[in-house]
Amino acid sequence: MNRPLKILVIDDEKLIRWSFEKKLREKGYIVYGAESGEEGLKLFNTYYQDVVFIDNHLTGMQGLELIDEIKALSEDAVMVFMTAYETVDIAVEAMKRGALEYIRKPFTFDEIFLILDKIEEKINLKNELILLRRQQKEEITFNHVIHQSAVMKHLIQVSKKIAKTDASTILLLGESGTGKDILARAIHNESNRKSKPFVTINCSSLPDTLLESELFGYEKGAFTDAKAMKKGMFEIAGGGTVFLDEIGEINLAMQVKLLNVLENRNIIRLGSTKEIPVDVRIIAATNKNLKESIAAKLFREDLYYRLQVFQIELPPLKEREEDIPLLLNYFIALFNTQFRKNIVSISDTAKKLLVHYAWPGNIRELRNVVERAVILQNGDTIEVGSLPKGISHRKEHHHYHALKGYSFNFPEEGISLEELEKQVIMQALQMAGRNQTKASKLLGISRDTLRYKQKKHNL
Ligand SMILES: Nc1ncnc2c1ncn2[C@@H]1O[C@H](COP(=O)(O)OP(=O)(O)OP(=O)(O)O)[C@@H](O)[C@H]1O
Ligand SMILES: [Mg+2]
Repeated sequence: MNRPLKILVIDDEKLIRWSFEKKLREKGYIVYGAESGEEGLKLFNTYYQDVVFIDNHLTGMQGLELIDEIKALSEDAVMVFMTAYETVDIAVEAMKRGALEYIRKPFTFDEIFLILDKIEEKINLKNELILLRRQQKEEITFNHVIHQSAVMKHLIQVSKKIAKTDASTILLLGESGTGKDILARAIHNESNRKSKPFVTINCSSLPDTLLESELFGYEKGAFTDAKAMKKGMFEIAGGGTVFLDEIGEINLAMQVKLLNVLENRNIIRLGSTKEIPVDVRIIAATNKNLKESIAAKLFREDLYYRLQVFQIELPPLKEREEDIPLLLNYFIALFNTQFRKNIVSISDTAKKLLVHYAWPGNIRELRNVVERAVILQNGDTIEVGSLPKGISHRKEHHHYHALKGYSFNFPEEGISLEELEKQVIMQALQMAGRNQTKASKLLGISRDTLRYKQKKHNL
């Protein structure tokens, strides 16, 4: 919370009010005092303080009654009940009626500050939750596409431009989990079509015939189960956007029909001959290499060229490492709220591992890894121990660049592994100027292992 908490103290003892005012103001709180329930209610009704301390024993309206009255004014008022007597019963009753905490008199101000810290944390958490709920209801825009790298900055810039144009088809390419879905939504929500529907069809999850009726709709009696006319997604999305996810999966017959929609801007419902004009933007996405599909005669070239006029290719996460720290923070904040945790940082070692990991599942995988770590981690820092083994047990210190693009032609007559090992060690020692530490690093083994092997091979 950025502003100081506003606090109301309702107590008929002047000394208590006075010391609250003095001690709490020193700490930066804003403090109001009231000597009776009636006066307190008036103050609360005017200023809606964040926290109200209520004494049990008052002249006039009593503490418990006051809790009810304040609750009636504000359902989520935060109240702390103060009682001078050793009566647990009454404190329990106060909590039942809605007090969040109770404190027994006499108390020290350290106790009060502890309570206030706890309350402030709760208020913050609640505010974050409200914010998060609002965000979830909120439409996805380009602001939700977290990025930092130059490639992504450029890509977002281009996407924004395309969003605003009349471009009727857009093709999104990229590996699974790179953000095609989120980008499609952002494009729709920042286009002139945003007040109209955005409908998603996952082409791979529906059998061919169902996909067709979903997209084009049907007339009553078009087939046995067609008891009534049904509009297809192209019609339902009228004026909006149809997101055809996994377009690479549709069969050749559907491809022809789709091409027809793109070229003629109209559709024909199943069981009908009437052409119905449609006004939709089509965003198609795939994680397949469509050129390979074309070569394999699984995807029509003419459809590909029709789709790819505006093509956006999302790079895999490993090609945009600069985005990783930002994404980590973003998802930590997200899952902190979701799981009521308070992770504030990531240890340097853990961060390094995360930044250099290859992320085959891209941002979806990163999101899952952060979710898991936030749940598992005790304390406020994500440590290596909360990362999955595949990431934490990576051999960080050895980069076997040499094996990349290095191929060993295994001779037909076979080899002696011992001899091969000897040769490799000799070369490493030579390269390292016979420095054992350097040579062992080159070989990815410990110095002791190297010594042992040298002895074994008489080197
Ligand atoms: N730049 C980003 N910023 C924030 N969240 C992102 C970003 N990119 C992707 N995500 C999130 O990562 C997850 C995967 O993204 P998305 O579903 O868009 O991937 P996709 O490319 O459609 O994957 P698939 O091909 O498997 O359908 C989602 O939870 C999405 O919100
Ligand atoms: Mg997707």
